Amino acid sequence: MKGALFITLEGGEGVGKSTNLFFVRKMLEDAGIRVVVTREPGGTALAEKIRLLLLENNDEPVSETAELLLLFAARAQHIQHVIKPALAQGRWVLCDRFTDASYAYQAGGRGMDISMIKWLENKVQGRLRPDLTLLLDAPVEIGMVRANKRSKPDRFELEKQAFFERVRAAYLLRAKQNPQRMKIVNADQPLQKVQDEISTFIKPFL
Ligand code: TMP
Repeated sequence: MKGALFITLEGGEGVGKSTNLFFVRKMLEDAGIRVVVTREPGGTALAEKIRLLLLENNDEPVSETAELLLLFAARAQHIQHVIKPALAQGRWVLCDRFTDASYAYQAGGRGMDISMIKWLENKVQGRLRPDLTLLLDAPVEIGMVRANKRSKPDRFELEKQAFFERVRAAYLLRAKQNPQRMKIVNADQPLQKVQDEISTFIKPFL
C-alpha cells in the first residue's frame, strides 16, 4: 500500500473547485489524515508571483511558449518546496490543478503541441504524478455564468467560449486515456450529489 497520496482537482472555470476542494480536505481530515492543501499555478512565494504574472492582463500579449514555461517554472518550485517534502513526511497533498491543466489549457485550449508538455512533464516532475485526479465536469455555459459572477476576469477568463469547449474536451480525453487515475465527477447537479460522487472516489483510499 502506498504511503501519502497526491490528489489533484481539475476542471474548467466555475465548476465548483474551491467548494469541493474544501469538502475533500474535510473528508481526509475527518479520517485522521494530515493534508497539505495547495494550488497551481502557485503554492510557494515565487510560484505565487509567477501566478500573478500569468493571470494579469497586459498590453503585451503573452506567447504560448512563455506561458507554458512560466507554468512549469512555477511547478518546479512547487514540487521541490511543497509537494515532495510533504509526501516525504507522510502528509497527503491535495492540489487545486496540476499538469492535467497544462494538457487541457495549453494543448487543448491554445492548441500547443503535446510533445512539448510531455517533455516538460518528464523533466520537471521526474516520476511524480498524481495518484488520484477528480475532474469536475460541467457544460461550459454553466461554468462561465458562475465564473462571470466573480470579480474582474483574469487573462484566462477573458477567453471565448470556444476556448473553454476545447479545454473541456481535452480534459475529458485525458480522463478517458487515464481511467485508473482520473475520475470524472458530474458537476452539473446539486452540490450534495456532486459530493456523493466525490465521496465514492475518495473512500477506497481511506
Ligand atoms: P484557477 O482559476 O483555477 O486558480 O487557475 C488559474 C488559471 O490558470 C486557470 O484559468 C487555468 C490556468 N492554468 C493553465 O492554463 N495551465 C495550467 O497548467 C494551470 C495549472 C492553470
